[in-house]
Amino acid sequence: MIDIHNHILFDIDDGAPDLDTSVDMCRDAFENGYRTIVVTPHFADYNHIDDFVDQRDYKIEKLRGILQIEDIPLKVLSGAELFLSDGILNAGSLDDLAINNSRYMLCEFPLGPFNMKRGLLWIDELIERGYTPILAHPERYFEIHRNLSVIDELLDRDVVFQVNIDSLIGKNGSTAQQLSVDLICRGFAGLIGTDAHDLKYRHTRTKERIRELPYEIDHEIFVKCIKTNPQKIIDDEEI
Ligand SMILES: [Fe+2]
Repeated sequence: MIDIHNHILFDIDDGAPDLDTSVDMCRDAFENGYRTIVVTPHFADYNHIDDFVDQRDYKIEKLRGILQIEDIPLKVLSGAELFLSDGILNAGSLDDLAINNSRYMLCEFPLGPFNMKRGLLWIDELIERGYTPILAHPERYFEIHRNLSVIDELLDRDVVFQVNIDSLIGKNGSTAQQLSVDLICRGFAGLIGTDAHDLKYRHTRTKERIRELPYEIDHEIFVKCIKTNPQKIIDDEEI
């Protein structure tokens, strides 16, 4: 399996606070069947892009080194989770934030109320710049719950949807669960990620989650969203 969205990288956002936690989260991931993870620390308009990328890449190298010493053969690739805003699109080239230097950019909207017209403009701007947006956890946004037609507007723009595995088992409420299952089963969401932040709540022990998946998520769909499609993203292929 491949995890395309997580906050495993230490001391860079609200995810793993230190290297030990990163290593433990990687160990959990490996023992649960992951062989590749793309680290996607939060990037917002208050970050300076070059500093962020330098810090991220330094920490990835450090993590890779410890994983080798600890004999955890998990491949670690680079990415980011872009918090969309007016400011972010003025930040210069975003290429270094894309997943494994591909065309794919993992991005998120504010979880609470905001002007979705602007949200769609941010998405259009990313597309204009040559990126294919991957929207993180569409099932979690208030503005999408309030107006489901936004889903169609995003699909019309070929935005890729990534749902969180904990949403599928109801950890983010029943609305998010219903929406995430629906998006996956109708083929609208092509990716499942952990969005792991820690060892306890939003973690990388996916086998525990798999046991609780609703019956509609069959094995074939699951493998496509957690292995086949993420591989295509990493390889910069169309899904
Ligand atoms: Fe995230």
